[in-house]
Amino acid sequence: MRLRCNQIQRAPHRQIWIFELNKQKFQERLALRASQIAAELDSLLQSAPQQGEITRPQKLLAAMRHGVLNGGKRLRPFLLMETAQMLGGNEKSALRAAAAIECVHCYSLIHDDLPAMDDDDLRRGQPTVHVAFDEATAILAGDSLLTMAFDILADPQTHRESEVRSQLVLCLARSSGIGGMAGGQILDLAAEHQNWGEKDIRTMQSMKTGALIRSACEMGAIVGKADTQSKAALVGFGELAGRAFQLADDILDVTQSTETLGKQAAKDDEQGKSTLVSLVGVAKARQMANEMLQEALFVLQPFGERAKWLARSAKFIVERDH
Ligand code: IPE
Ligand code: IPE
Ligand code: MG
Ligand code: MG
Ligand code: MG
Repeated sequence: MRLRCNQIQRAPHRQIWIFELNKQKFQERLALRASQIAAELDSLLQSAPQQGEITRPQKLLAAMRHGVLNGGKRLRPFLLMETAQMLGGNEKSALRAAAAIECVHCYSLIHDDLPAMDDDDLRRGQPTVHVAFDEATAILAGDSLLTMAFDILADPQTHRESEVRSQLVLCLARSSGIGGMAGGQILDLAAEHQNWGEKDIRTMQSMKTGALIRSACEMGAIVGKADTQSKAALVGFGELAGRAFQLADDILDVTQSTETLGKQAAKDDEQGKSTLVSLVGVAKARQMANEMLQEALFVLQPFGERAKWLARSAKFIVERDH
């Protein structure tokens, strides 16, 4: 889905509406989605056992809640819900699928912060789960959140059609496991103190971060029952948005303070991570992120103004400050 710049420049007038959505309007929309998703996650993470469960140990539940209900931009739920809404998908289905993907994301952060991985003490401005609790509890909180994600998707409350539920399960599984996020995380560790080239770094970024963001768009397309062509476009958009997101994360790591980020800044260099920023520098990395933004906007053109929130989110992804 790589597009040449001249193709993008040929129709810039068709994109003008995107920029009418100013930063404040976008922040309000993101905050609305964040509050919806927080309420849903809160109700899923209650102490009463579900049918088929025996009990919910309080310490584990508290650790899961610490890792999930602690702010966060909720970008993956945003992409999923806006994609589904654009296509006229069922709102409750979208909200539950969005809760599931956020559970996987939060699990990935809890494990990413463990001493065996990035060894971080601060996340979303608070102590990481293994610091607030202990390592074993953090591992189990991550495991339980991953499992809960698939519990949510398989539950008939998510969608009355089992075919839709199984498509959601498959999409999230493929993007979270060995060929997606978890696979990308092991590549990230393997790349420490190695001089990886651009191609390998891009593959790692597409897996550790891009895959989940891409599947947020794909799951929105599944809930919205997109036709084949629309789904392919939305997956293409998600792929570009996901890669741009990790590139921005790597830029922010070197340009922002720990206070602004709510997580330890200047961490990648300290740990010898291979990133595009370490390879080409901040200025060139910013240029690459902007090229990805233009490509992402181009891919959305067939949807016209209906894709305004998705388009605006791509701009947010590359221009955000945390
Ligand atoms: C951070 O993700 C980890 C990466 C995949 C780069 P986010 O920046 O989306 O983290 P939260 O959810 O807003 O805290
Ligand atoms: C994390 O990448 C990717 C996943 C959690 C899958 P980073 O290690 O760069 O994320 P931060 O910077 O700790 O949020
Ligand atoms: Mg990491
Ligand atoms: Mg990390
Ligand atoms: Mg990072």
